[in-house]
Amino acid sequence: MADELTPETPDEAEQPIKQRKNGLYPGVSDELADSMKSGWADTELRDLQPVEQAPNAAERRAALSRRFPGERLVIPAGNLKTRSNDTEYSFRAATEYVYLTGDQTDDSVLVLEPRGGGAEGAEGHDATLYRLPRSDRENGEFWLDGMGELWVGRRHSLTEAEVLYGLPCKDVRELADALKEATGPVRVVRGHDAGIEAALTDKVTAERDEELRVYLSEARLVKDAFEVAELQKAVDSTVRGFEDVVKVLDKAEATSERYIEGTFFLRARVEGNDVGYGSICAAGPHACTLHWVRNNGEVRSGDLLLLDAGVETNSLYTADVTRTLPINGRYSDLQRKIYDAVYAAQEAGIAAVKPGAGFRDFHDAAQRVLTEHLVEWGLVEGPVERVLELGLQRRWTLHGTGHMLGLDVHDCAAARTESYVNGTLEPGMVLTVEPGLYFQADDLTVPEEYRGIGVRIEDDILVTSDGNRNLSAGLPRRSDEVEEWMARLKG
Ligand code: GLY
Ligand code: MN
Ligand code: MN
Repeated sequence: MADELTPETPDEAEQPIKQRKNGLYPGVSDELADSMKSGWADTELRDLQPVEQAPNAAERRAALSRRFPGERLVIPAGNLKTRSNDTEYSFRAATEYVYLTGDQTDDSVLVLEPRGGGAEGAEGHDATLYRLPRSDRENGEFWLDGMGELWVGRRHSLTEAEVLYGLPCKDVRELADALKEATGPVRVVRGHDAGIEAALTDKVTAERDEELRVYLSEARLVKDAFEVAELQKAVDSTVRGFEDVVKVLDKAEATSERYIEGTFFLRARVEGNDVGYGSICAAGPHACTLHWVRNNGEVRSGDLLLLDAGVETNSLYTADVTRTLPINGRYSDLQRKIYDAVYAAQEAGIAAVKPGAGFRDFHDAAQRVLTEHLVEWGLVEGPVERVLELGLQRRWTLHGTGHMLGLDVHDCAAARTESYVNGTLEPGMVLTVEPGLYFQADDLTVPEEYRGIGVRIEDDILVTSDGNRNLSAGLPRRSDEVEEWMARLKG
């Protein structure tokens, strides 16, 4: 990458350019400075349409307003984070901000201001989007500041953003001072914007802010039509990403698991924003490490590949899908036996996903089937009821059978136990069903041939009015169908 305007003196070198805001860079001639101020075309975009989810976001803000009458609510998008020196991680806006605006711009903040200053009898809120305006050309900001548009790309003007997001927009650089001066109750979504939190430090409490976070988590439990369509898009791209991987397994064998990670990532970046979480590309015994994301292992014929990956759409909804594939295209007898047990458990789990069922029901159904197999194989002494009661199967089943899915892979994570884990399934909820069996390479309690085998099958399931729909049905799950699909793709 190009260095930002190379400093000419040691003094200048000591001062990172990003802090040299709003001042001309020393060593720039007056003539050049004057030249850079003018001669630029008017590029204001005048034919913009609102983003597709603008009406959905407006409804969500209205519900939020009803829940916290008379209070000022502050929801930041977040800031860039340093990766090293003067490079940053790619920005991913805070889920709460995206949910309430449809926007993803760094440094922005949504503020809901109670009407009438929160006075008794005044109803509702006025929402404002605070964001960085276009870079100023008069003071040189656009080309002398590391965050100027010359370096990082054109931003939307405040007027353009008003059209896109259907909200009045103001300069975010005025917000911290305005918040410091504001009176009345305030809540902020924490963890995304230290500057905004610092401006509110005397006005907020952790407990009240947590209530805001919990509300915004629970509000996302049931997805609207836009969200379901985006999740289906995410899954469809993910299906194509899995197909891409099957086609290059020979190249992965010649290199490493990284080839699989890179192949899936290409699909994610071309069709979506990114992967929704670090892809788990776990060949052989790595499948038994639940969050294996180092992906630096060998890919060997005869082993299984557990691939857990999801494309995140440009609107930031993510899929979360796992398939456990025989690298050479055919399961061995033992691999198939274990795979088919997990498949049977997943079938039982998916069948338990329907409106009115408890969130725990699909987990219980899948755990029972896995346990029946473990007892039948003589790995744990029955009866099944006793094993389930003592949780002994968990040595090999390890994790819960699923979770809500949406803007976050583990969506709605701040929801209260009574509304999520102990709650009831409703149409519009989207969740994963992902049972697994994992026999660690060093597990001396199982026969040697089991050791190092890990299997998980994970699908993304929408609760419908009369049952469920498997959004990831485009990927085969049954062992013989997986083999046929692989043979077809490998040609
Ligand atoms: N990929 C993380 C999970 O399956 O929950
Ligand atoms: Mn997963
Ligand atoms: Mn999952």
